[in-house]
Amino acid sequence: MRLSITYFLTLLGAITAPLAEARSAGCGKSPPSSGIKSTTVNGKNRQYTLQVPANYNPNTEYKLVIAYHWLSGNMGAVFNGQYYGLQPLSGGTTIFVAPDGLNAGWANTGGEDITFTDNILQTVQDSLCVDESNIFATGWSYGGAMSFSVACSRPDVFKAVAVISGAQLSGCNGGTTPVPYLGIHGTADDVLNISLGRQLRDKYIGLNGCQSKNAPEPNSGSGTHIRTDYSCRAGYPVTWIAHSGGHVPDPKDNGQSQSWAPGEIWKFFTQDGLKGDTGGGDPGTTTTLVTKTTTAGTGPTSGPCAARYGQCGGQGWSGPTCCESGSTCKFSNDWYSQCL
Ligand SMILES: *[C@@H]1O[C@H](CO)[C@@H](O)[C@H](O)[C@H]1NC(C)=O
Repeated sequence: MRLSITYFLTLLGAITAPLAEARSAGCGKSPPSSGIKSTTVNGKNRQYTLQVPANYNPNTEYKLVIAYHWLSGNMGAVFNGQYYGLQPLSGGTTIFVAPDGLNAGWANTGGEDITFTDNILQTVQDSLCVDESNIFATGWSYGGAMSFSVACSRPDVFKAVAVISGAQLSGCNGGTTPVPYLGIHGTADDVLNISLGRQLRDKYIGLNGCQSKNAPEPNSGSGTHIRTDYSCRAGYPVTWIAHSGGHVPDPKDNGQSQSWAPGEIWKFFTQDGLKGDTGGGDPGTTTTLVTKTTTAGTGPTSGPCAARYGQCGGQGWSGPTCCESGSTCKFSNDWYSQCL
């Protein structure tokens, strides 16, 4: 009798183990605060922003999105842009991270930015309750290149990636395992030609076993976008959205003040059946579209001075020029100074 109960429990354990594995080690622990975190990678000090949802519950599993900045950007600018506009769509279900690149980019020399990413994931999973089967990466330009790079090197970690105006600039160590892939690119991109974005897409069309298909792209100046969903191996979709704009993170259709990109990315990340997931859908959050456009007042402010990460200067800036205590106004470029 005792033997058969043990046997039954062993069987039960075998059945439930794969599900339990998705819960990270940080579940049940008291959470770290949101803010700038530091870590050491290959002897170098590296930083990233950590955004823990309001009303965080240590026993609830959260999605995790890593959002990489563009060349000459930084983690604070990604924070200011609400993680490429995804945070407002996430309905409090998601932890967001914006890592800071060396020399404001993602050269990923010797794989050091992959190691940095591994390091962040380990720390976040150990301290917060992450659904390890719901980890995503996105970024624009150099940040798109880095998102492509993590898809190549960490295909079993990331559930999907969204590459905005990307090219292969951060390497592709690995690149032999399928990953759900969304590519967004402008036909008038004069910084990273759309042909470079098509190359990244085509790699995943091959890896994900998709049927080749004509993917129409809008005429220049039409102010539109065209989405093509490829037919791929179940659970490994590839979607390509070509727009008629240039090298921008937040493409908009003619006459629209808000970008369609955040909504498309969020819908791609939360669609049912990704990597065989049955409950990944997130109905109710796809109707709200919020852009990453940063204008006066969208950055965090408190009282007469800007809050940490908020804008505090730059040409055309009419908002606060002082920072809340604990942070100081740092010149980033002629158009942007920030409380850090
Ligand atoms: C992208 O490259 C193609 C082929 O070289 C070229 O014809 C096109 O003008 C380029 N696009 C832009 C916006 O520079």
